[in-house]
Amino acid sequence: MTTAYKITEHKYDMIVVGAGGAGLRATFGLAAKGLQTACLTKVFPTRSHTVAAQGGISAALGNMGEDDWRYHFFDTVKGSDWLGDQDAIEYMCREAIPAIIELEHQGVPFSRTEEGKIYQRPFGGMTTKYGEGPPAQRTCAAADRTGHAILHTLYQQSLKHDAKFFIEYFALDLIMDDEGACRGVLALDMSDGSLHLFRAQGVVLATGGYGRAYFSATSAHTCTGDGGGMALRAGLPLQDMEFVQFHPTGIYGAGCLITEGVRGEGGILRNSAGERFMERYAPSVKDLAPRDMVSRSMTIEIREGRGVGPKKDHIHLDLTHLDPAVIHEKLPGISETAKIFAGVDVTKQPIPVLPTVHYNMGGLQTNYHGEVVTLKDGNPNHVVPGLYSIGEAACVSVHGANRLGSNSLLDLVVFGRAVANRCAETIKPGQSHKSLPASACDKSLANLDKLRFAKGGTPTAEIRDNMQRIMQNDAAVFRTGETLQQGVTKIRQAYDSFADVRVSDTSLVWNSDLIETLELQNLLGQAVATMVSAENRKESRGAHAREDFSKRDDAEWMKHTLCWVDEQGKTTIDYRPVHLNVLSSDVSVIPPKERKY
Ligand code: FUM
Repeated sequence: MTTAYKITEHKYDMIVVGAGGAGLRATFGLAAKGLQTACLTKVFPTRSHTVAAQGGISAALGNMGEDDWRYHFFDTVKGSDWLGDQDAIEYMCREAIPAIIELEHQGVPFSRTEEGKIYQRPFGGMTTKYGEGPPAQRTCAAADRTGHAILHTLYQQSLKHDAKFFIEYFALDLIMDDEGACRGVLALDMSDGSLHLFRAQGVVLATGGYGRAYFSATSAHTCTGDGGGMALRAGLPLQDMEFVQFHPTGIYGAGCLITEGVRGEGGILRNSAGERFMERYAPSVKDLAPRDMVSRSMTIEIREGRGVGPKKDHIHLDLTHLDPAVIHEKLPGISETAKIFAGVDVTKQPIPVLPTVHYNMGGLQTNYHGEVVTLKDGNPNHVVPGLYSIGEAACVSVHGANRLGSNSLLDLVVFGRAVANRCAETIKPGQSHKSLPASACDKSLANLDKLRFAKGGTPTAEIRDNMQRIMQNDAAVFRTGETLQQGVTKIRQAYDSFADVRVSDTSLVWNSDLIETLELQNLLGQAVATMVSAENRKESRGAHAREDFSKRDDAEWMKHTLCWVDEQGKTTIDYRPVHLNVLSSDVSVIPPKERKY
């Protein structure tokens, strides 16, 4: 029998779950529009994972050379390997410019050029003249701590606009009504174990990615895809989960991020012969090819015996030819990280690096207003009333099969702003809340209670470790039908093993054993969706590189995957078309062609 839990009820116009860049931009945007807004976050806002973003945020400001937002649009479509929705990409690239100016005015301490303009560095896949010109200097940077600078500014803005924060609250489940509308969220205050029902006209999921489904990731340990887990339990599908980005330069062993900005400033990847091998794989842009290509090239070098180190199992990132003054000014953060986690002085020694899981292109399917949409009665764009998602939790889809570096911080602020604008148009401040049945939270409470008192034979950490190793081995940079089929069997077994989980601490006050178990439940659903969607897609596109289907197949596969995972772990796959339309006459649809750099 479920324990009788006391629930405190709160009423707001809007609830935002998550206080990273997307969540905070939405929170203060909503508050500024006069909507009573509360933000729930499991970590203190300025500890959200956005704080770890290093290299920068893209926008075609043209501060350091010719640029145009239409070039940015072209690069993003091409970078996505033609899986991105072109209407949403147009929206993002156009809005990038005012979004950055807004951040500047709000106080983000961007690095500056001699003339005092925002400093911009080159990043992978960012070019000029529709791929025909030289690399674009498009990534606006605050040294190599851009996410840190942006997150702090957005938190200050949220406080300025009197948004209400519920800090160290863990969101358990969405509260959906019989008509499929989202009416709020149930959350646990981790400090005292009290339960809170937040009722709202709309809930924005800004909960980030699920990088911690993998063994080695640049993502923080908090990146457990809690929004995706809640969505799956609410019966919603997740989109394009097979597309997982490996960042080429995670520190070998530790996994910490070494920004692509290093290559933007002139850093070079070298194999055991000291060769700048990217010249062979991407002759025009070399080390600044998009991440999927660089990660594959590094993996091939290692496989063919040209890796570095005693086991020849990683690659060197060389900055030793750069002026130490440039390193000191532009790359202070990674110099410190490389010293601490790899023991190297970057002015004298190369950094040992390896492709490391970094970003999930997949997530909750949304339109470019941030509204969650789903497939219903044959309509692929059915809006789920009251539910929104932004940032890495969402799949708009502006990144398609492969995200370009520095388009993520951009996605956070552009769609955080868009969702606030949309809600201001559609929701009136102070609207009354429809009544909810007394049983509205029962299912979620039963799940909480079941896990709190789970007396199985397997500790949470053991199931998590098994899941992470399966994902690392079988949903890797290169995939084959055989490894994916094995991966599907193994990840289903890992999912089933959760029925035997053991939680040793049954208290409710700061019960990290219970929280990690709830997080693992969220991760497992997304791990299954990732492996099953990857096995299902019989082509190579962007970050999904299959050795048994090595070509992109537009005739069959230029479509988004939708994957549902029910409580038993049973999966259902369906599809929705890629949006091959644009919003204005300023750009034309970019027709698919071979992706070469
Ligand atoms: O390499 C980096 O600085 C990461 C940027 C990004 O993922 O956009």
